Amino acid sequence: SLIVPCVQELAKKSITKIPPRYVRQDHQKPFLTSSDDTSNLSIPVIDLHALFSTDSESSTYSSELNKLHSASKEWGFFQVINHGISESLLEDFKSEVLKLFKLPMEEKEKLWQKEDCQEGFGQLFVASEDQKLDWCDKFYVNTLPLNIRNSKLFQKLPPILSEKVDTYSREIKKVAVGILGEMGKALGMSKEEMGELFDDGAQFLQMNYYPQCPEPELAMGFSPHSDATGLTILYQLTKTTGLQVRKHGNWVSVKPLPNALVVNIGDIMEVVSNGVYKSIEHCATVQSNEERLSVATFYSSNMGVEVGPARSLVAQHNVANFRRVAFEEYYKDFFARKLDGKSNLEFMKL
Ligand code: SIN
Ligand code: FE2
Repeated sequence: SLIVPCVQELAKKSITKIPPRYVRQDHQKPFLTSSDDTSNLSIPVIDLHALFSTDSESSTYSSELNKLHSASKEWGFFQVINHGISESLLEDFKSEVLKLFKLPMEEKEKLWQKEDCQEGFGQLFVASEDQKLDWCDKFYVNTLPLNIRNSKLFQKLPPILSEKVDTYSREIKKVAVGILGEMGKALGMSKEEMGELFDDGAQFLQMNYYPQCPEPELAMGFSPHSDATGLTILYQLTKTTGLQVRKHGNWVSVKPLPNALVVNIGDIMEVVSNGVYKSIEHCATVQSNEERLSVATFYSSNMGVEVGPARSLVAQHNVANFRRVAFEEYYKDFFARKLDGKSNLEFMKL
């Protein structure tokens, strides 16, 4: 990745035009929904309490599992409520993330990413000087398992933030593993196979800060892409809308629900499900009068496994729709590739 300017510093200068590196051309311009948009299409909402804590023989359980299954097939995106992460942890974590992005520039510079490392402040996937940039500052950090944590970076973080990142990432892991387990059941996968793939997955956290933008009709907060992960769990810290999900060729806006988390299927899970579940393109737009913050947690498969269609599903389907590659190989070129639509999944297609 190349080192890019801090968008927040740009936004502070009360400019009325954004620099050319942020101006999108033609079809790459964002699709902005107006506030009087009456389309009530929205991603499904799943009650995790019904899945995690009710008797699996009950009708409450089986109807929620059906909802999860169809949301994963038809949308690749849903919101979860009653996920079990306490409101107070979410609030505390939120205020620490806000503080991180509001640190003075001299402090932020100490946490800026280095040329050979994607962790810290900065943008990922910047491969050339003429590539368009997102109207967003990011902070990226490896969280779990503990051996992929960069202890030097953790020590440089404000102490309360590093404590909250630690607690939050463990809580999110429980939610991710729980949802993946239910997906395995809905797909008819063997429990052992699901565990071997995901019980101690590699987890990365990306905090996104989208400052107010003087020309939101020309800029993108996050270019359209699908996620390379197993599952992604997104915590929207502000009420500002911005996340958009591809559906039947259109963009559907995801309205933040209080205390809900947004979950989406990543490329690895599309591969593991042998194509039954869909890793859907999404993007984020920006606004002129409101800033937006979000934290995406990327939950991937265990390290050292092979990423490929579940054997129990290939046996059911009588065909494998994707190849199998070592986890390390799957990720090797990922960060070098430009984030561009579903390019990562193309690499896995048979
Ligand atoms: C993404 O993680 O792809 C989008 C994040 C957001 O909605 O801010
Ligand atoms: Fe994403």
